[in-house]
Amino acid sequence: MKGAPVLKIAVLGGDGTGPEVVAEGLKVLEAVAKKNRFQYSLKHFDYGGERYLKTGDVLPEGAVGELKTFDAIYLGAVGHPDVAPGILEKGLLLELRFQLDQYINLRPVKLYDGVDCPLKDKGPADIDFVIVRENTEDLYVGSGGFAHKNTKMEVATQIMLATHEGVDRCCRYAFDFTRKRAKKKKLTLVAKTNVLTYAHDLWWRVFNQVAKEYPDIATDYNHVDACCMWMVKNPESYDVIVTPNMFGDIITDLGAMIQGGMGIAAGGNINPEGVSMYEPIGGSAPKYTGKNVINPLAAICALAMLLKHSGGQEKSGDDVERAVMKAVKKLKSLSAGKMGYSTTEVGDLVVDSL
Ligand code: IPM
Ligand code: MN
Repeated sequence: MKGAPVLKIAVLGGDGTGPEVVAEGLKVLEAVAKKNRFQYSLKHFDYGGERYLKTGDVLPEGAVGELKTFDAIYLGAVGHPDVAPGILEKGLLLELRFQLDQYINLRPVKLYDGVDCPLKDKGPADIDFVIVRENTEDLYVGSGGFAHKNTKMEVATQIMLATHEGVDRCCRYAFDFTRKRAKKKKLTLVAKTNVLTYAHDLWWRVFNQVAKEYPDIATDYNHVDACCMWMVKNPESYDVIVTPNMFGDIITDLGAMIQGGMGIAAGGNINPEGVSMYEPIGGSAPKYTGKNVINPLAAICALAMLLKHSGGQEKSGDDVERAVMKAVKKLKSLSAGKMGYSTTEVGDLVVDSL
């Protein structure tokens, strides 16, 4: 393969079970690269809780600059029991999402054949949609503060920020994505325009403005509370959802549960013009760390997304997804410790199904 481009991947195993699930993803990467004859290189970074406890910094100087030189980032999990909540989440995960301007968080909700679904009478034909979560604005910007802290007069504020540019680029991505996906060609805005009459009025106006440029895409609107209801009652009504960051965080956990749980749910933090980062959407699961019981399929699905969206390896991404669909049928459950196989055996099952 002389002269063929090499896919450069930065690997951030992170905390808890992160490194274990990423190792299985890399096993699958090695196999699919051999099968489809493409080249890649890996560089491992030790960012996460352990490093923070040793050195006192979450991301060293120059880290973001270096990560920008890769084609994609493959992330395991962030969150350490000995580190106060927020430090790693904000200092590592959100910092990278913001600094790398990964303004889309793309989270497919797809129930694979043979996977248990908690919804009665719903199957793979009913649960197949994608959530496009805005990923750089909203309550996540960390704007706000305290006044009169620790007194009875205390005031705490946290600002929900929406910019025209931020909403516009997210809606455009969602419309383009819906068109390219070419399924129901329907995009639903999920917000709360009846209460958030400033920030979500902006979302409503921009969404409808951008919609005019996509006459082939049907549009719909749900308040976020109603969306939770529909996701349980009629998930088949969705094709693509676009939503602000905070609501996207919440409804994608609900989405993960109806597709079989955190063991299978993957996502991509995408900068369509820059470097994107792919991760299983579940956390670091400290209680399962090092036990070889965590489900690596979400991380393997994240790898499939990486290959498709950032690796220029669409076929390999599809091959990995198909292999996951085969492997999943052999598992007793998708929950940690109940799969009937160990973490490494599940990785092997996927490799064997390629
Ligand atoms: C997610 C996570 C993060 C988020 C946390 C860890 C900051 O829940 O990726 O959904 O809220 O975005
Ligand atoms: Mn979340």
